[in-house]
Amino acid sequence: MAGVTQLCYLGLSVSDVAAWNRFATSQLGLQVVDEGDEGVSYLRMDEYHHRFVLHANGSDDLAYIGWQVPDAGALHALREHLERNGVAVSSGTEEECTARRVLELIKLQDPSGIPTEICYGPMIVTQPFIPGRPMTGFKTGDLGMGHLVAYERSLEDGVHFYRDLLGFRVSDHVRMPTPGGDRTMVFLRCNARHHSIAFTATPPLPKRIHHFMLECNSIDDVGFAHDLCKKQDLPIAAELGRHPVDQMFSFFMGNPSGFNVELGWGGRIVDEASWRVHYRRGGGWGHEGLANNPMRR
Ligand SMILES: [Fe+2]
Repeated sequence: MAGVTQLCYLGLSVSDVAAWNRFATSQLGLQVVDEGDEGVSYLRMDEYHHRFVLHANGSDDLAYIGWQVPDAGALHALREHLERNGVAVSSGTEEECTARRVLELIKLQDPSGIPTEICYGPMIVTQPFIPGRPMTGFKTGDLGMGHLVAYERSLEDGVHFYRDLLGFRVSDHVRMPTPGGDRTMVFLRCNARHHSIAFTATPPLPKRIHHFMLECNSIDDVGFAHDLCKKQDLPIAAELGRHPVDQMFSFFMGNPSGFNVELGWGGRIVDEASWRVHYRRGGGWGHEGLANNPMRR
């Protein structure tokens, strides 16, 4: 069964769209796409029409995850596979497909109730991406828009859903000591990016999402963003560091919805033929603050 192949888009429910647009452009380097759609703000980071949909409904959390498959045949085969395994799936309406700028999508929920969409045929824009601040751009393409770390009520149920039903491969397991007890995480990939999603079950997180990560084309993009945060006294949730698991050089900043954004460079590319799952304990260097303050309140 062919599974999903990339993280296509994220929907976020936010209480302050204006603050998010400022943060996304001036800190992250994203581009606001304003085509007059009511109640939403689209954020672009590459040739796709958008990679984020901000919904102005105030819950300040992840609204949905959008995964991509290559074509209609893959989408329909995946839907059959999901339904054979007892997952309730519905079709996106014409209005929803128009709003997401995709040819077709299906809707379901992951085991923890995170709204999940799977699509094919996202809209590609021919006008060049114009970053919101000077930078070289983002590493996307076949690797997708980045990764997210989410909260799952059960690691076993989460692994079953993403691996056995959506077609992900497990990349690594990590146990991180934290003041609230050891945090176990599972990292899964759907392309050569080490993980497009990772999740943790204990201790519980207050939101569906812990952070999303965007990978810059240059290490300098990360450094300049870090300088900007320092100069403007903006919240840094975790200092510069490097994760041993995906080798990402990055730092974490708070966002207007109270969870984190990781801005990184140099992430690990998995060779599918030779990759072996590892079990790791602890972190790499840097990232001070991540273990002690995993979620900005
Ligand atoms: Fe991350």
